Amino acid sequence: MAGVFITIEGADGAGKSTQIEKLKHYLSCKGYDIILCREPGGTVISEEIRKVILNKEFTEMGDMTELLLYTSARAQLVEQVIRPALKDGKIVICDRFVDSSAVYQGIARGMGIDLVYEVNRYAIGKTMPDITILLDIPGSAGIQRKKKQGELDRMELETASFHDKVSEGYRILAEKFPERIKKLDGTQPIEVIFDQIKEIVKNIIQ
Ligand code: TYD
Repeated sequence: MAGVFITIEGADGAGKSTQIEKLKHYLSCKGYDIILCREPGGTVISEEIRKVILNKEFTEMGDMTELLLYTSARAQLVEQVIRPALKDGKIVICDRFVDSSAVYQGIARGMGIDLVYEVNRYAIGKTMPDITILLDIPGSAGIQRKKKQGELDRMELETASFHDKVSEGYRILAEKFPERIKKLDGTQPIEVIFDQIKEIVKNIIQ
């Protein structure tokens, strides 16, 4: 049996980590073999690339460099972790994937989503999520949450208008791919959101 590829997306501070932990626990208890990963990261090489991308000292980083670094980290993760796991019939849950690049680099940075998917085609091939859960929150809400949690990285230090574009960009993407991207109201209580995620995931793994 081929595996199932689930991605979770949302603006910074949307509450993805909490929901991913809950989903992992829920599916593991049901006996499924789960692989968790995050982007950028998830392999030794990708985690090194992550350090470069998010280093807040690197304010001079160009948009194309940024896009290619995210894409390189992803290429390694797909080849080393995601593709083999799916081949083994596992459920892969990834915290962010190519849609993050479409929104952050394609829409918020203005590079265009077609260009982003085109570049990513070389990195991921046909490995696309079966289902993507989007936690939709207002742009500034997540950053306020993140500020309380500690120091902000290079992306989180972007302007309020950048973060507004990210939140809006996710809504645009959800409208473009309604079959794959399921948009949930990320401002609801944690348990309410999780019940909705369970329903979506049950439908896809059955
Ligand atoms: P991270 O600390 O993992 O953020 P979060 O906990 O919100 O997921 O940092 C990843 C940052 O990189 C986040 O600001 C989103 C951004 N990003 C992109 O701009 N493009 C991408 O392709 C990916 C995967 C992430």
